[in-house]
Amino acid sequence: MANWPATALLRAKREGGRLSAGQLHEIAQGIGSGRWSEGQVGAFAMAVALHGMDAQECGDFTLALRDSGRSLDWSDLPGPALDKHSTGGVGDGVSLALAPLVAACGGYVPMLSGRGLGHTGGTLDKLESLPGYDAYPTPERMRRVVADVGCAIIGQTDDLAPADRRLYAVRDVTATVDVQALIVASILSKKLAGGAQALVLDIKVGNGAQTPDPADARALATAMRAVANASGLRLSALLSDMGQVLGREAGNALEVRANIGLLVGAPVCPRLRALVLAESARMLVLGGLAADDADAHGKLERALSSGAAAERFERMVAELGGPSDLLDDPAWHLPQAPEQVAVASLREGFVQAVDVRGLGECVIDLGGGRRRPDERIDHAVGLAQVAERGQRIAAGEPLAVIHARTPSAAERAAEQVRAAFTLGVAPPASVPLYEWLDG
Ligand code: URA
Repeated sequence: MANWPATALLRAKREGGRLSAGQLHEIAQGIGSGRWSEGQVGAFAMAVALHGMDAQECGDFTLALRDSGRSLDWSDLPGPALDKHSTGGVGDGVSLALAPLVAACGGYVPMLSGRGLGHTGGTLDKLESLPGYDAYPTPERMRRVVADVGCAIIGQTDDLAPADRRLYAVRDVTATVDVQALIVASILSKKLAGGAQALVLDIKVGNGAQTPDPADARALATAMRAVANASGLRLSALLSDMGQVLGREAGNALEVRANIGLLVGAPVCPRLRALVLAESARMLVLGGLAADDADAHGKLERALSSGAAAERFERMVAELGGPSDLLDDPAWHLPQAPEQVAVASLREGFVQAVDVRGLGECVIDLGGGRRRPDERIDHAVGLAQVAERGQRIAAGEPLAVIHARTPSAAERAAEQVRAAFTLGVAPPASVPLYEWLDG
């Protein structure tokens, strides 16, 4: 393999040239091994921000990032390895119910999840509400749980796509997080390294999303599809609404409880249930486990009503170190905040708009998320019974119930919650919950 000096590769990209697969491999190796300095990594990210990458380069860079570390192989399992990625939202605990549902229908879901990012929550933080849950098991334990239970939701280990981890950290401090080619390569390199054969990609839109504008979200889906297709990964993408909290809860233990409710057939927010089922169904179809969405929905409803999906969730939690009797009494195992305060609306009206980002920030301020990577979080706090867009609220009726550690934290949060809701005299136009981009 030719050995290109980092400066020659940086100059080529800086001048708008395109890089070959070999050159991109060299760059990923330089980043992953630590041979490239922070400055060089930052310069590369900025050169891509300024000149972009064509589809071929983006695909080659995705594979180069994947090959900077180990890749998992699930081909010995008797069913397909399926995965899902969400660009992040508030109240988006979909993975918690989706993974065991798909597992109960014959899929295998080795899901490498992340922590909260910005104002959005993270699946790992949610699962760590459960005492004893080990989000970083040994590779052997992870493999055993996936093979036995059908799903394991865990954190990404250092040896998967290590170049992406370093590049991502540098992007964070060089204003290059939102560069499309780098986003595509970052997400797909990790999914490919995780061994997924098919992927459902949920791109959130609306004010609480990382890509609020649907046009940007569509462009991201198109770019992701091109690279996924070229790498042999089957992908289905949907846009879903983050113009309001998904579900009625935002906060770690609160969202775990809501998703357990979904699995055991308790009344839950219909939007949360509909999105979980839509994404799970598409995973079954992509994995060849259902003929079409209707067939998949039938299988999923049976997995819910028989208790099979709930049982998978309980076993996954138990095999990863959490309680073995979670479903007997979830509330007993999940932490609860001492202060629970309903925020009364000061006026009446229909909820016109919700500042979802503001509500996400409110959860962080309550202690349910991080401002710095090393901060500890309070799993018990958050918002429950959050009002929905279009809901009619009388004066004095609650906009949300705050779960807080102290009365003063609850008081501060009440101001934030009131500020996040816009009420008006007529119901707003309805917004679709989701839209598949590929039929
Ligand atoms: N954006 C990225 O660039 N990478 C991720 O893993 C997630 C979002």
